[in-house]
Amino acid sequence: MGITTVIDGKKLSETIHQELKEDIKNLQKKYNDTPHLVVVLVGDDPASLSYVKYKKRACDYVNIDSTMIRLPKHTKEEELIKTIDKLNKDETINGILVQLPLPEHIDRNIIIDRLQLNKDVDGLQPIHIARLHTLRYAILPCTPKGIITILKRNNIKIEGEHAVVIGRSNLVGKPIAQLLLKENATVTITHRYTKDLATITKHADIVVSAVGKANLITKDMVKEGAVCIDVGLDRVNNKLTGDFDFDNLLDHVSYITKAPGGVGPMTITSLLENTIECFINQKESREL
Ligand code: GUN
Repeated sequence: MGITTVIDGKKLSETIHQELKEDIKNLQKKYNDTPHLVVVLVGDDPASLSYVKYKKRACDYVNIDSTMIRLPKHTKEEELIKTIDKLNKDETINGILVQLPLPEHIDRNIIIDRLQLNKDVDGLQPIHIARLHTLRYAILPCTPKGIITILKRNNIKIEGEHAVVIGRSNLVGKPIAQLLLKENATVTITHRYTKDLATITKHADIVVSAVGKANLITKDMVKEGAVCIDVGLDRVNNKLTGDFDFDNLLDHVSYITKAPGGVGPMTITSLLENTIECFINQKESREL
């Protein structure tokens, strides 16, 4: 039985936002301009609406200009494409984020592919993904980037460690596996068809779970002293709960992120960082 550090992502994000606020001041002096992010939300999914509000609030705090474009749920794919084309051309806009999920009648791949590469603050364009896989410069997807920041800011060893990722989505599972690999971890990706998940997670030094099923990962599935990164959120009796059985893992693992209040706020921090990165790339006319 050891002592567990509970990682408070909100606190860490607030610390980094202070730093970013200073960076923005310096950028303002240097370029006489401020980064500008546009967030596009189609429909009225309550979870998406609340995420988008958090994003706007964070932009306001660090003095990144932000505009929210809300389109009705029945918006046609062609209309959304036209909106994106306009934002791509607008030189006063440095970053574009299309909140996912999109309504079912819209093909998310067509929309993502339409974003101008140097304004894709989510790093979801296949070119960014391919560059990440081949260790070239890429804008990194926000949640995986936030997880790496959590690990690094807590001086958690990644190199040589066995990291097990649960979930294989394009937003989280696959890119976090690549980032951990880039940091020289040995990485195993598991998913809904994985046989006997526990035998795999038990060998992990770092477990990243992005499933969204409350208490999926119990104490018997995790090695003593492991690092637990909880990306999943599920609602149980109207209370948001992560993938890890948090209460029973306390004093068993070395680190565990809060959920909610762990990875989520760091996703927003990465979005601010990516917006600044896109702004600088554009100001310096870097070809992507
Ligand atoms: N929906 C949930 N997470 C994300 C994210 O990181 N980016 C976008 N665009 N949509 C999301």
